[in-house]
Amino acid sequence: MVLLFYSEEDDPVAWKAALEARLPDLEVRVWPRIGDPREIEAALVWRPPPGMLAELPNLRAIFSLGAGIDALLADLTLPELPLCRMVDPSLTRSMSEYALTLALFYHRRLDLYEERQRAARWRMEMPRPAAETTVGIMGLGELGGDAARTLAAHGFRVRGWSRSRKRIAGVESCAGGKEFDRFLDGLDIVICLLPLTPETENILDAGLFARLAPGACLVHLARGAHLVEQDLLDAVQRGRLRGAVIDVFREEPLPPDHPFWRHPRIRVTPHTASYSLPETGAEVVADNIRRLRDGRPLRHLVRRERGY
Ligand code: NAP
Ligand code: GLV
Repeated sequence: MVLLFYSEEDDPVAWKAALEARLPDLEVRVWPRIGDPREIEAALVWRPPPGMLAELPNLRAIFSLGAGIDALLADLTLPELPLCRMVDPSLTRSMSEYALTLALFYHRRLDLYEERQRAARWRMEMPRPAAETTVGIMGLGELGGDAARTLAAHGFRVRGWSRSRKRIAGVESCAGGKEFDRFLDGLDIVICLLPLTPETENILDAGLFARLAPGACLVHLARGAHLVEQDLLDAVQRGRLRGAVIDVFREEPLPPDHPFWRHPRIRVTPHTASYSLPETGAEVVADNIRRLRDGRPLRHLVRRERGY
């Protein structure tokens, strides 16, 4: 079988080696050296140019290098083929690590001490136990579910929101639109790990910020279009929010003149919250390629009608 690899960010050499080591019959062709497009039966991609996959007449399945497939679904020419997202232990672990790091950053008030350092001001706040900080996780799927478990294991009070009810030890589960207000009520830190769909676009807005505890913090790790940027700037300006760490943006890379770059209470990270290692990610893709070859059901299929 021939597989096309396309990504501007992932290392093609490492992925090709990891895939071919697991599947000796597989030939990985790295864009743009694709040879005869008619020979390609599978594609492993991250943000391919719109229209690219439609040019492969014998494609049988599309594998995403990312967990989020919103950019693929936005391509109106995307072939109606099985589409599988990345669900990989290294992706999950690195996301939970980042969520915990940032929850601790705000819980232990490092933002405050950064400001005080700039003013050479020595003043401590008595640290409080994690159990006194309520963290809300929007999305309790592969990533949000694991982040919720990790934060709960650290001792935070954790609440999660998803479409369907979850049972996660130490995590209060809120489900659907009816329980959204209960989920938000009084949160000290909110972490967004939702997929981008028509229902979740612009969900991080002034109305949501108003329901959190006064001086709450936002950690946004999902997709830029979840966030109404002006509402965040206003909420931080008015002190409604204490601060935010934003990892994902409507426009990436974030343009140099964007107000987030220089805002003292908004921290920017360059879409780095989590990553798939070829050593573990290739195992997941190889398993699906074997399934495709043997006519068995694929894993981690996207349900296109719900958008994730
Ligand atoms: P997932 O397993 O599909 O989980 C999605 C979760 O969101 C599920 O719990 C789902 O509820 C919930 N959800 C979806 N629509 C909802 C709605 N309208 N209302 C309430 N809950 C809703 O996805 P994942 O693997 O955890 O990934 C989540 C997102 O993280 C990705 O889509 C991507 O955008 C982002 N991401 C970012 C980075 C980064 O580096 N910044 C890296 C990887 C992924 P149900 O469980 O009830 O279906
Ligand atoms: C990264 O953003 C991903 O969706 O995996």
